[in-house]
Amino acid sequence: MVLHDPVALRAMCDHARSEGRRVGFVPTMGALHDGHLALVREARSRATFVVVSVFVNPTQFGPAEDFSRYPRTLESDCARCAEALVDVVFAPEKDVIYAPGDETRVRVGDTAAALCGAHRPGHFEGVCTVVAKLFALVGPAVAVFGRKDYQQYRVIDRMTRDLAMPIEVVGLRTVREPDGLALSSRNAYLSAGERTRALGLARGLSHAVRAFESGARNAGHLRSLVLAEVTRAATLIDYVTVADPDTVRPIFDADCIGERALVAVAARIGATRLIDNVVLGEDPAPIEVCA
Ligand code: PAF
Repeated sequence: MVLHDPVALRAMCDHARSEGRRVGFVPTMGALHDGHLALVREARSRATFVVVSVFVNPTQFGPAEDFSRYPRTLESDCARCAEALVDVVFAPEKDVIYAPGDETRVRVGDTAAALCGAHRPGHFEGVCTVVAKLFALVGPAVAVFGRKDYQQYRVIDRMTRDLAMPIEVVGLRTVREPDGLALSSRNAYLSAGERTRALGLARGLSHAVRAFESGARNAGHLRSLVLAEVTRAATLIDYVTVADPDTVRPIFDADCIGERALVAVAARIGATRLIDNVVLGEDPAPIEVCA
């Protein structure tokens, strides 16, 4: 079922809860791919009533970003959700989420400061504001996010704890194409040549995983392995950063990492900004590479 009206959505979720069903939620901006469907499956395994939202949120895009050309494919998104046995697709109009006079925003903290937060001012404030509104409408017991947007997952997890929202936030491992490319709605922008170059992100991260498995612990060395591949592939690099996987605070090149570390990349391939990451000590190498 597709709903555009927040009152009807709330009534459906209230009814599900009154029947003793556990509400699971997957917020999306649409252009659904197999990565989103993995989030839906995860939500289904943890809940008995699953809501997917489809809303391209204007407040998380900067003025020079791709808000107007972001793919909008609601019809096929709804078909994919129906196949995946989603109970409700919530696809609100902009005025439903940002009514005239709207002015309140969620202020984010240190978890949002580095990586994408440093390169996309206001991005995580926009993400948290829309997710908080959607959480209020849906009232989920559990919400599932992809770890490709690793910092987003951590920022939202932090928000739910700081604002005492009774919601379990789950981060699901990145789903990849067979050749290792992380699934993303923005992959649709890539030409064939750019798609081949985009594999440099996954290849660089794979070198870091292999080196970590062989005992490398110096943050600067691990970072340089990723940087070498990304430099070959990218038109422009926003960042290649080694960070604490829980706080998302960057780790200095001179420092050694412990049992786990986030290695995150954001780079432009042509005009398309892609992000990818691995958590060393947790994730496998996205691509087979020699150590
Ligand atoms: O990850 C996304 O698709 C978006 O940032 C989200 C969480 C749906 C908020 O608009």
